[in-house]
Amino acid sequence: MLLRLNTIASIAAGLSIVSAQTFQRLGTCPDLGCILPPDQQDFLPGQQFDIRFEVHAPKNGSEAYNAGVPDEQFTVTIQKEGGAAAQSVASFFKQPEPPLEKWTFKWYEDLFAQDAKNSSVVNVASKIYRRVALYEPGNYVVTLSAYGGAKKTIANWTVRPLAAEKRAKNVILFIGDGMTTNMITAARLLAHKTVNGRYQSLLQLDKFPIIGHQMSHSIDSFITDSANSASALYSGHKSTVNAMGVYADSSPDLYDDPKVETVVELLKRIWGSAWGAVSTAFIADATPIALTAHTRSRYAYGPLIDQALHGVTNYSWTNHGGPDAYFGGGAEQFLPGSGSYLGKDYYAEFQKQGYALSLNKTSLAKLDNSTKALGIFCKSNLPVWLDRNVYTDNLKKQTNDPAGAKAAATDLPGLKEMTLKAVDILHQRGGDKGFFLMAEAASIDKQMHVLDYDRALGDLLELDDTVQATIAKLKALGELDNTLIVVTADHGHGFDVFGNADTKYLAAQKDDRKKRDAIGVYQNSGLSEYTVEVPGVSYGTGANFPVNWDPRYVIAAGLGANPDHREDYRVNKEGSRLPAVAATNTTDYYVNPADNPDGFVVNGTLPVNEAQGVHSLTDVPVYAWGPCQEVFGGTYSNIDVFYKIANCLGLAHGKNTTSGVCNK
Ligand SMILES: *[C@@H]1O[C@H](CO)[C@@H](O)[C@H](O)[C@H]1NC(C)=O
Ligand SMILES: *[C@@H]1O[C@H](CO)[C@@H](O)[C@H](O)[C@H]1NC(C)=O
Ligand SMILES: *[C@@H]1O[C@H](CO)[C@@H](O)[C@H](O)[C@H]1NC(C)=O
Ligand SMILES: *[C@@H]1O[C@H](CO)[C@@H](O)[C@H](O)[C@H]1NC(C)=O
Ligand SMILES: *[C@@H]1O[C@H](CO)[C@@H](O)[C@H](O)[C@H]1NC(C)=O
Ligand SMILES: *[C@@H]1O[C@H](CO)[C@@H](O)[C@H](O)[C@H]1NC(C)=O
Ligand SMILES: *[C@@H]1O[C@H](CO)[C@@H](O)[C@H](O)[C@H]1NC(C)=O
Ligand SMILES: *[C@@H]1O[C@H](CO)[C@@H](O)[C@H](O)[C@H]1NC(C)=O
Ligand SMILES: *[C@@H]1O[C@H](CO)[C@@H](O)[C@H](O)[C@H]1NC(C)=O
Repeated sequence: MLLRLNTIASIAAGLSIVSAQTFQRLGTCPDLGCILPPDQQDFLPGQQFDIRFEVHAPKNGSEAYNAGVPDEQFTVTIQKEGGAAAQSVASFFKQPEPPLEKWTFKWYEDLFAQDAKNSSVVNVASKIYRRVALYEPGNYVVTLSAYGGAKKTIANWTVRPLAAEKRAKNVILFIGDGMTTNMITAARLLAHKTVNGRYQSLLQLDKFPIIGHQMSHSIDSFITDSANSASALYSGHKSTVNAMGVYADSSPDLYDDPKVETVVELLKRIWGSAWGAVSTAFIADATPIALTAHTRSRYAYGPLIDQALHGVTNYSWTNHGGPDAYFGGGAEQFLPGSGSYLGKDYYAEFQKQGYALSLNKTSLAKLDNSTKALGIFCKSNLPVWLDRNVYTDNLKKQTNDPAGAKAAATDLPGLKEMTLKAVDILHQRGGDKGFFLMAEAASIDKQMHVLDYDRALGDLLELDDTVQATIAKLKALGELDNTLIVVTADHGHGFDVFGNADTKYLAAQKDDRKKRDAIGVYQNSGLSEYTVEVPGVSYGTGANFPVNWDPRYVIAAGLGANPDHREDYRVNKEGSRLPAVAATNTTDYYVNPADNPDGFVVNGTLPVNEAQGVHSLTDVPVYAWGPCQEVFGGTYSNIDVFYKIANCLGLAHGKNTTSGVCNK
């Protein structure tokens, strides 16, 4: 998705300050003292992490303190509740005292300060303790004391119970990016017939035995993005918008922030299992890359592909061994050039590490199941299901060949082909040690951002079809009973359907208010026409999809947050929508005159520099099937998804367990 970089980013070297108070000096950092991980954080026993301490001395602005001179003599202690007396962090973790670091950053205190370009200046003294772990469950109190005790910051941490028994051999985590219950409901309406109010068939998701809800807040803002929400799902640690696998610090370096170990790093270190990621996005995008990424900036695409292959090489850190199957789009980060890390050819870098390479659907199917595989099928995101299956002429308009030719990629797999092949490879390569696979339906989110509801719902139905096919595949492999399947989202959008629209009547009216009379609400909303066969019209896409994407009566839908745009509610046959365009040489977005010209104007609710819809607050559903399914009922935080999966995989180990996880 397209997230605007905060304007302050250029000043503060990428420091992300997005918060409930518009701007914060640094999220999670009260009282001029920062402990990262901060107060209220949970840990898996034995999970590796870094601890950063920062002492802030604002030179000016509302918090000006100590003439802008940070205390360099600050002390840091840790104590286990009910345990021995507090001791220094260095002695507790048996580490040498790390060197003192110093830097300066700037930030805006509010919108008035931003308009006036009046930034506040903060000087910082800091230390970081790298790669430590807490093995004993319980509560820990970490204290940072600065300026001779005048400023004290406390963090209470909880190490969760041990759970070393492995109950699931394999885990498949499906993420419908941006997917909400409202979208699932709309997708069901499009693809499944009702008779007198009763559905004659259901989604695969409807057949899952357990459903729960997760709360998606970021650590310092109540609207999340896909980077830190994916990171919460994979590591059990919340973070800041745009950050992954780290707690965001205020230093200028985007890669030195305190890290937390992710599920694939744990799984590799403890069990040596196979793991993979599949996405319909470019593979360096937040949801797939957060499995291995440790950075404050999701936009560091090239370096993050290097981290996916080699792990974090610049700091002592646990390695994940590289993915066993890695399928998606995003050739820009692999072709040598400005998009790849240090300009290198990452197809070749992967091949040097023993990877088989596939650049199209035909060769994907033929990949050897026993060899590590990289499959990159186009530049940017994969074209969506609707364009790959129904409006296929749109594929030819692209210049997205994964080998870099000025041509269109046309031999494209979808989520289903990539996921099923990944299961074959991971099953073979994981053997008795099992596997972890994350498969993402990315364009539910991407198409909701551009208000293209049909393309978003098409990809949601593709996800459902993929989940169904995966269950059948696991059954055929004899692995269904060994595999925990979780289907969830990372966040939502404020989407819903409120009636139908008579597209013929709407197009025939001249003025915007009259066009709105085409919308039928309550008893006039009628029934879905997407499931009614039209003689001579067949897309041949099977039972899990609509038989008619362009009926006269369509769903009338919308989002709670959008730019100025025009609605006619008809499917966009020529390709994805571009709802708003900027006035010449500005970032002021207005209705795109070329989008739905026969529709009526819907004025935006967002700042006028937003070109697209944005994420919303809603809890998102969690569907579970297989070993440990029972723990997924109820309402919980997004980080709990990680703890539930980690416990089911037996990743919560004390130092003393026989599997011997201590820095193996
Ligand atoms: C900058 O902000 C401070 C308060 O934080 C205020 O006293 C000062 O007048 C502002 N300067 C300008 C140029 O707006
Ligand atoms: C803080 O000082 C800098 C100069 O170092 C100045 O540019 C800035 O406007 C000051 N900010 C405030 C809020 O006074
Ligand atoms: C943190 O722990 C201390 C000591 O156990 C306790 O006094 C304090 O109330 C706790 N704070 C929070 C926010 O839980
Ligand atoms: C890693 O360190 C090298 C050498 O200092 C530097 O050139 C490179 O940019 C660093 N990479 C990242 C991702 O920080
Ligand atoms: C698919 O990839 C294979 C192997 O790289 C290549 O031989 C074949 O020509 C490609 N097919 C298409 C349709 O591009
Ligand atoms: C991969 O495994 C599947 C079984 O799930 C099998 O049908 C297929 O032929 C294998 N592919 C290759 C290339 O060996
Ligand atoms: C827009 O910016 C370009 C490049 O700076 C300039 O050549 C052009 O005249 C500008 N157009 C308008 C309408 O201001
Ligand atoms: C409504 O949208 C139109 C078209 O983009 C725009 O010209 C107008 O300024 C908008 N009205 C408001 C109140 O934003
Ligand atoms: C193992 O656990 C016991 C009991 O909790 C403890 O006394 C001992 O120090 C532990 N050993 C190691 C190596 O941590």
